[in-house]
Amino acid sequence: MGVKLGILGLGTVGAGTVQLLQDATGRHPLLEELEIYRVGVRSLDKPRAVELPADIITTDLESIVNDPAVDIVVEVMGGLEPARSLILQALKNGKHVVTANKAAIARFGNEIFTTANEAGVYVMLEAAVGGGIPVIQPLKQSLSVNRIHTVTGIVNGTTNYILTRMQQEGSNFEDVLADAQKLGYAEADPTADVDGLDAGDKIAILASLAFGGRIHLQDVYCEGIRQVSKTDIAYAEKLGFVIKLLAIAKLHGQDTSKLSVRVHPTLLPKAHPLASINGVYNAILVEGEPIGQVMFFGPGAGAGATASAVSSDILNLTATLKTKTASETKPNPLLACRHQDYCQ
Ligand code: HSE
Repeated sequence: MGVKLGILGLGTVGAGTVQLLQDATGRHPLLEELEIYRVGVRSLDKPRAVELPADIITTDLESIVNDPAVDIVVEVMGGLEPARSLILQALKNGKHVVTANKAAIARFGNEIFTTANEAGVYVMLEAAVGGGIPVIQPLKQSLSVNRIHTVTGIVNGTTNYILTRMQQEGSNFEDVLADAQKLGYAEADPTADVDGLDAGDKIAILASLAFGGRIHLQDVYCEGIRQVSKTDIAYAEKLGFVIKLLAIAKLHGQDTSKLSVRVHPTLLPKAHPLASINGVYNAILVEGEPIGQVMFFGPGAGAGATASAVSSDILNLTATLKTKTASETKPNPLLACRHQDYCQ
């Protein structure tokens, strides 16, 4: 029996995901079993990057999360509302949810995971942090036997692009930002990126996974890059440093109450593993015992990269649905995580 997907959003990430799923040859065989059953969009008039039968596309987003035939809801529309309400409704209706929505998870994680736990369904969020970089699943699984003490990331591509160009060209923040907007890297309203809020959402999620508990954006100190001048960057360069917008979650001692989670411009010695991450790329350095240092690097945004993460979540859920009946889905070794309350 095929697994029916209800996809909410057909923008860059939604269209990239549809494209990947429609072209399954040479990928995981289970992808053949997925059916793009319904797709929700805000407007029917927009030109689309993908071809889909007209009768599966609707602007009635609620009808998708309420459709008894839909097995997995894929929320790739972004933003807080109506995304939050639709995710909650889907979970209450017993549907598993795959989301790329870092803001909804970082701000409403409590509500979302409590609802999912009550309904006995899963929320998968690999695409919420680091775009195509697999970092959520490794934190939940392969690294979970370690005592992690620090997670440090360059998790916002827009600001890393701006800082990289300021450094390489000696340009001003405002000039590079205007250019980044023209090139489509930065949003028309770049506030969430340049003021560190996007990175704040992402480190809240990573910290929740690495250290347990539910850390939200309001727990994170956020300072962006508006105040970084080309003079700061030039002086840093002379002293052998680069300036990066780092998202940091760090345990001070063994006590999890002494966890600091913050985002701010940071002087990094040029030999630091994160110092050479340039342009729109992201990287996340995880440090723990006994593993030492592990670094994840790759494209932090973009249609194909993010679609890779979204589709891998869909695939993992599909594997679970296929091998177990609903009453057997917990506990699920595929989704094993030491912090039951956050990652189920
Ligand atoms: N605005 C984000 C960034 C997109 O620049 O990294 C990916 O979350």
